[in-house]
Amino acid sequence: MHDLNDIARSLVASGKGILAADESNESANEKRLKPFGIELGEENRRVFRDLLLATPGIEEYLTGVILYEETLHQKSTEGIPFTELLIQKGIVPGIKVDQGLEPFPESKDETITKGLIGLPERLTDYVKTYHTGFTKWRAVVKIEGTRLPTAQAIHENAKRLAQYALEVQKAGMVPMVEPEMLLDGTHSRMRAKEVLTETLGTLMQVLEDHAVDMTAVILKTSMVVSGKDTGKIDSPEEVAEDTLSVLMDTVPALVPGIVFLSGGQSPDQATANLAAISKLAKERTAPWPLTFSFARALQEEAIAVWAGKDENIPAAREAFIARLKKVSEALAA
Ligand code: 13P
Repeated sequence: MHDLNDIARSLVASGKGILAADESNESANEKRLKPFGIELGEENRRVFRDLLLATPGIEEYLTGVILYEETLHQKSTEGIPFTELLIQKGIVPGIKVDQGLEPFPESKDETITKGLIGLPERLTDYVKTYHTGFTKWRAVVKIEGTRLPTAQAIHENAKRLAQYALEVQKAGMVPMVEPEMLLDGTHSRMRAKEVLTETLGTLMQVLEDHAVDMTAVILKTSMVVSGKDTGKIDSPEEVAEDTLSVLMDTVPALVPGIVFLSGGQSPDQATANLAAISKLAKERTAPWPLTFSFARALQEEAIAVWAGKDENIPAAREAFIARLKKVSEALAA
């Protein structure tokens, strides 16, 4: 077995990043296939994953891919199990292990993430049968004025992230901890900055309190941007300044890497913001490597070109590679 810190560092290796392709079956249907008029169902979810994972050359840009459980059991169109295909390319397969959201009894407009029951058994199976090297658990942080998020919801989600991270490390994998601060809403960038500071500050503290090995954790975070419903597009320099300042204030240098979700920003916006953050991090000699772990910003253009038609797959793969190239170039900015 590899040292967990080695796996974590390999995932944030310079110039490369991670593809999130771990939409649940329902999200894959409703959010990826349906908007493009593609017929819903297991076979088209398989073709959608094949479109991305079997694209030649993705290993130039990707160190890891986060998968959803269904994909572990599926094969590429050429008949190779997807996890094997990734391993052949030198890409580490990862697995989303949370089981979605449930209402938070203490605050009815907030959610907590479930999936701790039976987790150790599932983790053992993923490692043994599918050779996964890392995992993801996503908590959701919703902003609404100064009312949400509540400190209780932030804390409960952090506690579950810590319990999850401990189990994952015990099973010999690297936990990615993701408290996604949603872009939806009318909040200002300043408010997003405040909320991210509280979220990450609490999470890091709770991880340490639970004695999670901080040298073997990847943090997946949102960028600090104005709420989508403000209609305001912040400049990449503003996003970089605020995002980096939160990370510097909250994330210990021991953490081997930080990755960003795209969160509903357009592919160009997410790419430009990543470039600015990466540049500023170098200027300020940030202690951790920073890279991407996008879903939507990497997939959107490729799915639009594909539109569910086999004959469009080569062009869709070109669009996917073109975006991967731009995002990787953003890291060299
Ligand atoms: P987006 O990049 O589409 O936000 O997705 C990343 C992710 O993994 C969300 O959990």
